[in-house]
Amino acid sequence: MISMFHTHIAKQANDEIQKVLSSGFLSEGETVLHFEKSLEKAFGFKNCATVNSGTAALHLALELAEVEAGDEVILPAQTFVASGLAILYLKAVPVFADIDYLTGNISVASIKEKLSVKTKAILPVHWGGYPCNLNEILSLAAEHGLKVVEDAAHALGATYQQQPIGSISDFTCFSFQAIKHLSTGDGGAICCKSTEDYSRAKSQRWFGISREHAPLTELGERTYSITKAGYKYHMNNYAAALGIANLVDFDVRLKKRIQIANYYRTHLIKQSGIRLFNYVNDRQSSYWLFGFHVEKRIDFIRKLKSAGIAASVVHQRIDRNAVFGGLTKGLSAQEAFDESQIHIPLHDALSMENAEHIINTIKQGW
Ligand SMILES: Cc1ncc(COP(=O)(O)O)c(C=O)c1O
Repeated sequence: MISMFHTHIAKQANDEIQKVLSSGFLSEGETVLHFEKSLEKAFGFKNCATVNSGTAALHLALELAEVEAGDEVILPAQTFVASGLAILYLKAVPVFADIDYLTGNISVASIKEKLSVKTKAILPVHWGGYPCNLNEILSLAAEHGLKVVEDAAHALGATYQQQPIGSISDFTCFSFQAIKHLSTGDGGAICCKSTEDYSRAKSQRWFGISREHAPLTELGERTYSITKAGYKYHMNNYAAALGIANLVDFDVRLKKRIQIANYYRTHLIKQSGIRLFNYVNDRQSSYWLFGFHVEKRIDFIRKLKSAGIAASVVHQRIDRNAVFGGLTKGLSAQEAFDESQIHIPLHDALSMENAEHIINTIKQGW
């Protein structure tokens, strides 16, 4: 079976993790710092603080954006539940905007309609790794004094108008969960535009204690007085070691993903029963997913399955969950998206022969 996802573990991983294990220093230390600096260098990130999940990154970023109880945060429903739950952790209110049917990304026109006096932040999600319309979102945010927290869990290595995702908004959050482009087992990162937010991120991820400003005393404990309750969200050294190993050939792996995505695109553009997502070329998707709209979706899934190929909707609108208060009315593009969106395999273990088999199977019809 050609699976939808794959966990990439680089050859170097054993050696890198063994180094940490032999050092006996498992928690957050030099290896984490080294991983953060390597991420900044590899992706052009600003002020990167790692954490132990993408969800933790979103929660911390929203808190650093000063989202408080009762505030509203505008996000798309086309995402994973983590994006909405992070808002609920702060007792704030997720307000679901519509999406663009041909990308799955939040619609700027819909954000405008959802703005209220209670809006505090906008949380765009780069669905499948394709960057949202950031210029429009950022100018809207500036006009209304709002923070932008990008959910870039799918978008490691993506660029928007030549700028790396992770260098643009107030906060950008990544996930290094098992099946993402770059895995640390579980893990995440927040990139902060301001150095002040960056240092707050580093202390809030570790109980609210700033390691740099809390030296050990002769009594054997650090000197600190926590002013705001922080979390145990830091990354540990052996997760970072896996990240360092997986970073080595990241650019080669990303290029291969893009190459396969372009191959899919070329062969499916004229396929009847399929409507490809409309990606414009001022930005580069990191292609965590390859999605499109398909007619007779269940027949399509069955046809692929019979040829040993997985296909999946990956996530369906999250406001279906009772915790978010039930379906938001009037999201017409989202409703249409839900009816026909599908994704086919695109990952590091996928060979060109696999991709050809997928295309040939689709071309047979369903
Ligand atoms: C869009 C999106 N945001 C956030 C997350 C949460 O990341 P993590 O699993 O690392 O907490 C995920 C997936 O895992 C996701 O797909």
